[in-house]
Amino acid sequence: MLSAENTDLLCRVGRGTPMGDLMRQYWLPVGYSWEYEAEGQPQRVRVLGEDLVVWRTLDGTPAFTQSNCPHRGAGFFFGRTEEEGLRCAYHGWKFDADGQCVDMPNEPAESVFKSKVRITAYKGADYGGVTWIYMGPDQDNPPGIPLFEWGQIPPENVSYAQKIVYECNWMQALEGELDSTHVYFLHRRLNIDDSPRYGLYHNDQRALFHISEKPYGFTYGAERHELDGNVYWRTTQFIFPIYGMFPAQDGVVPLSIYLPVDDYHTVHMGIWWKPAGEMPGNGRPHSALPEEPGTLVPGVGPMKPEQHGRFFAKWWPQAAPDSDFLMDQTAKQRNATGIPTVRLQDSAVIHSMGRIMDRTREHLGTTDVSIIRARRMLLRAATQLREDGTPPPAAEHPEQYNVRSCATVLPPGADWEAELDDWHNCRTTEFPRKLADMQRAFEERTLPSSPSYRR
Ligand code: FES
Ligand SMILES: [Fe+2]
Repeated sequence: MLSAENTDLLCRVGRGTPMGDLMRQYWLPVGYSWEYEAEGQPQRVRVLGEDLVVWRTLDGTPAFTQSNCPHRGAGFFFGRTEEEGLRCAYHGWKFDADGQCVDMPNEPAESVFKSKVRITAYKGADYGGVTWIYMGPDQDNPPGIPLFEWGQIPPENVSYAQKIVYECNWMQALEGELDSTHVYFLHRRLNIDDSPRYGLYHNDQRALFHISEKPYGFTYGAERHELDGNVYWRTTQFIFPIYGMFPAQDGVVPLSIYLPVDDYHTVHMGIWWKPAGEMPGNGRPHSALPEEPGTLVPGVGPMKPEQHGRFFAKWWPQAAPDSDFLMDQTAKQRNATGIPTVRLQDSAVIHSMGRIMDRTREHLGTTDVSIIRARRMLLRAATQLREDGTPPPAAEHPEQYNVRSCATVLPPGADWEAELDDWHNCRTTEFPRKLADMQRAFEERTLPSSPSYRR
């Protein structure tokens, strides 16, 4: 349970709030770099409750500036990007990427008024195929951009798996990422002899949690017991302030990003990468729905038509509260929810909690320790930043983002952190599945009609 006061402290990110101040210590990912074209149409975004437009200068640098013109309030969305600036459609005032007015064509030529007019402008940059914003107080001295591994490997090894607007607060979405025991309930297939295409299955639904605090947040190992006596480990990272890596399987590492759009909307992006090989597909988000009812596909399905007039206009999904997330009763006879992708199953339950989940009414159990720890660390960091200016975790250490998650089987008694240390810290590209019988056990668990199911 969390008090209403602490829930507000944790969840609200507007300018001047403690968590909003914390978020503004970091570069934040806003979209995929290919979304924003040089000399293209400015696009509406909202980040941490601030309405902005994003556009590119002539040299390709992304610029984030306030959404409306300071002259008479017209939306810059209707303006034009011109050389090194953005020109308002109404009377032609033009601003550069630093927010300075550089042209006022409707004022007398001798006027110096333009030198006195500025707009809010935030630094933008591209890294790893992603466009980032820095909204911190010292725009001239931003920290380094998080050095995630996917920004340091060939682009063919990276899949930009999904982008989607959630109509709820960012924190309940992130909490879902850190919640290991939901995996074999929410995402399960109903018949264990069905193909894994219909959902996940594990015989041990009571994971034991081992949390290890790190400079960037924490890693936890969720321990489950295999029927053959080995131990199945699912490791997850919580990385400040908005990231979770759910367990990597077969050498593919999945990162989830929960960008706070405002207190009631979140942009969820997924980036999957293979340290040692190419990812299938063309790198762009998946948009298919399953052809066979009850099977699951990657991604979040198709988007609605462009939502003109709204922020992140191209990323509003068809599977949303107004469609009950495309739940299908035929599919529900084969998997737990009848909702067509794992990510949409997550989305449905996260939305069903309300726009900001009322945590005064929850009853957390022993398997919710990672959620409790993440809240505690975020609240502590926001409070310390406010009280004495202590930089929050990883804000000034971009190298700390170079980590990975894991899912694998280890012998009983193995030290999961020691065994997985090289993989977790990107020192090897060899997936830690060392013993042949471990590998067999791991694969049998996910294949239909395996001997272990019949026991
Ligand atoms: S409202 Fe933008 S130039 Fe007048
Ligand atoms: Fe999930």
